Amino acid sequence: EVIEADGLVALPGFVDLHTHLREPGREDTETIETGSRAAALGGYTAVFAMANTDPVADNAVIVEHVWRRGQEVGLVDVYPVGAVTVGLKGEKLAELGTMAKAGVRIFSDDGLCVADPLIMRRALEYTKALGAVIAQHAEEPRLTVGAQAHEGETAARLGLTGWPAVAEESIVARDCLLALHAGARLHVCHVSTEGTAEVLRWAKGRGTQVSAEVTPHHLLLDDDRLNTYDPVNKVNPPLRTANDAKSLRAALADGTVDCVATDHAPHAHQDKDCEWSAARPGMLGLQTALPIVVATMVEPGLLDWRGVARVMSERPAEIAGLPDQGRPIAMGEPANLTLVDPAGRWTVHGADLASIAANTPYEGMELPGTVVATLLRGEVTARDGKAVR
Ligand code: DOR
Ligand code: ZN
Ligand code: ZN
Repeated sequence: EVIEADGLVALPGFVDLHTHLREPGREDTETIETGSRAAALGGYTAVFAMANTDPVADNAVIVEHVWRRGQEVGLVDVYPVGAVTVGLKGEKLAELGTMAKAGVRIFSDDGLCVADPLIMRRALEYTKALGAVIAQHAEEPRLTVGAQAHEGETAARLGLTGWPAVAEESIVARDCLLALHAGARLHVCHVSTEGTAEVLRWAKGRGTQVSAEVTPHHLLLDDDRLNTYDPVNKVNPPLRTANDAKSLRAALADGTVDCVATDHAPHAHQDKDCEWSAARPGMLGLQTALPIVVATMVEPGLLDWRGVARVMSERPAEIAGLPDQGRPIAMGEPANLTLVDPAGRWTVHGADLASIAANTPYEGMELPGTVVATLLRGEVTARDGKAVR
């Protein structure tokens, strides 16, 4: 098979550290198969499937199922994320050792949070011993009770209970200090405020082994969008201010924030097409991530294509400890590769996306940058907008 690549950019296959695939439990919104299609179409060759499934991925049986099913589908390597605590409740540590033995490299409290500092301290000590990393959801839950939107002028005007920036910044600071104290690694999920970027800059300056991700939606969107009360814009952490988004773009450009992760969060029609307060938080992200990075980072000159390779592939691979991503490859060696047409443009329609769910915040928008082909170990997984299976 010959792929005509004149004018295209060849990048190492993208790695998403933060994907919700909903299998097991909510296969009406996404499965490992449909999510794998969305990933391949988005240029991804590896995704990390978050642990807040039903049942929660807090044991070796579930994480082994996720890995096996991903390999059966064969479009993208689906690495399971293990829950830090049993049932994701934050009360009792899960069996991190047996999950690590089953191949888990990232443990997370995403979707809930480890509020108890003693449990987080122990978890950091265990994951250090296991050579793994904790990805924390960056929310102090006692400061977000009833929260519906970023605490600020917009939420006040719309009558929505606020989710203050300090709910994120305080727990990120706490966990950076605990990680430094334990000599453990920490990964911060979906950084959403200027203040969190400042905390990370400070923590890295002190030698903390901390990495961080930002989502495409927090780079592009802000709480101005909430005026219509359309729940498609409801997400945790919430869309912040335009100034926060600007600071996040700068932090991604200067390496304070290491990488982009989607927080791809499929939700059923009935859980989004309802009142704001009843809607579930989250938005689709796998197929639109690269175009949003092009629009927010490449086109304004904040990142070149070398930088895109760094934030979409190399850094996430390093953080997760994937051995083969991002290293030079020899002629003829099977590679994980994404070919992008920088001049391509496409209009997003939720109904056309490969996910079962359709909750994209970019409906009707024309976005720059198209994924022309994705190759996993030398085999084409997606080409010209179609997954190979
Ligand atoms: O918006 C979100 N959606 N934030 C989370 O932490 C969980 C996620 C989900 O699972 O839907
Ligand atoms: Zn989260
Ligand atoms: Zn998430």
